[in-house]
Order: sequence, then C-alpha cells, then structure tokens
Amino acid sequence: MTTDKKMRLGIISALHEEQQGLVEAMQGAVTRSHGMRVYTLGQLWNIDAVCVLSRLGKVAAAMTASLLVEKFGVTHIVFTGVAGSGDKSVKVGDIVVAEALLQHDMDARPLFPRFEVPLTGLQRFATDLALSEQLAGAAGDFLRQDAQAVLDPLEIAQFHLQQPQVHRGLIASGDQFIGSAAHVNQLKAELPDLLAVEMEGAAVAQVCFELGVPFTVMRTVSDNANEEAAVDFMRFVHSVASRYAFGTIKRLCQRLAG
Ligand code: ADE
Repeated sequence: MTTDKKMRLGIISALHEEQQGLVEAMQGAVTRSHGMRVYTLGQLWNIDAVCVLSRLGKVAAAMTASLLVEKFGVTHIVFTGVAGSGDKSVKVGDIVVAEALLQHDMDARPLFPRFEVPLTGLQRFATDLALSEQLAGAAGDFLRQDAQAVLDPLEIAQFHLQQPQVHRGLIASGDQFIGSAAHVNQLKAELPDLLAVEMEGAAVAQVCFELGVPFTVMRTVSDNANEEAAVDFMRFVHSVASRYAFGTIKRLCQRLAG
C-alpha cells in the first residue's frame, strides 16, 4: 500500500479479549491514559501502531476514533469486533470485512431520508478500498492457513468452524444488541444487501469520513442476531473471536510492512 506520510495504524478493538493479545505482542509499548481509555503505542510486526479498546456503542467508538486521530496522530484505522449475521450466507465463524457501513438506528424523517446522517448527505460510509483489500486478504490467509492450528478442535466442532469464509459488503451499526429474528428480518427487508449487524463500525466510519482518515472494519460473526444471540455471543467471544482478531491483524501488519 502506498501512503505519502509514514503509516501509524490505529487498531480499535470492541472487546477486551481482542485487544489483550495485540498489546502483549507490541514492541516498545508505552501506555497513555486519557478519557477513561488506555492507549498503547508501539510497533506491531514492524508497523507503528496504537491499540485501544473502544468499549461498546456508537458514542464510545466515535470518541475513541476521534482521539486516535487528533491526539495520537494515527493515519489509518482498523476496527475489529464481533457481529450478528445479517444474511443466510454469513455463518458463525465467518469474517465480514466492510465495504460500507450504515447507522441502522438513524432516522431523522421527515427532515432527512431514513438512514441518512444529517448534513453529510450520506446513508452509507465507504471503507478505504486498498486497506479493505489488504484486510480481506489477511483474513482469508488467517482462515486458510492459521485458524485450524490456533483453535481448539473442540471449538471447531462446537461452533462448526470447518470452512469459515470471508465476506465483503454492508455492515449496519446501532445502539442495540439485536437478539430477535423479527428485528434482524425487518432490517434485512429495508437493507437487502446487509451482511452483519454490530454496535460501533458506522460511528468510526462517520468520524473517519469527516476527518479524512482511511479506515476499515473487520467483524467475526458470533451469532445469528436471533433469540439465541446473547448466549452464542458470550461463548464465542471468550474462546474464538480474540484469536481471529489477533491472527488477522498480525497478517495485516505483515502485509502492510512488506
Ligand atoms: N455484536 C455481536 N452480535 C451482535 C448482535 N446480535 N447485535 C448487535 N451487535 C452484535
């Protein structure tokens, strides 16, 4: 990937489990506390990086992304987390790399069309193509080459992780954990190309759009956003999602450094 100034990559994790391994892998790590968050600065596989936990929801994610850019000088942002499936083809254990993100709880009608973020003229915020290509490539390499080795065979059987896939497309975010088939089906009816639902990505997307910072989002699918979602989510996050995020970010940094 070509960039004019030296890359400093902001890596935002939605979950503590996802961030822990990255922070431990950092060379020359120093920490800075600000605004109820700990930012860890250092080198990850020869990439200058800043890791931080966003916590949950759009406001938390927007604040984190803004501070990464304005206070810690990151030039690019990658967000990792888990998501509920928004399409039958997207299975638990698959990875979704966003091409665009939308706030599914944005509704300022009749002043603005449904989903449009007022005064941006946009419903959907596009991710950076080059960074997303690299992230999807890294995720595919991780799933094909590393996943079987880093996951417990019992987890592979339990979560049916035999042939996980990478998908690319629309992710929708809102300040709601979606745990009902009726709710996700209603969103799907309004957004037929929806692949996944989560609670932060579109907020990071809006901040990065407004600040002119290239960004992308990766989500490991932890549940089907239905009545079983909360139980599946908890089991999956603790055991599997952290290893997906670590393995994919490692391969992403190696690609970007190479
Ligand atoms: N993150 C993981 N699963 C989710 C769901 N079902 N709804 C919102 N965010 C999620």
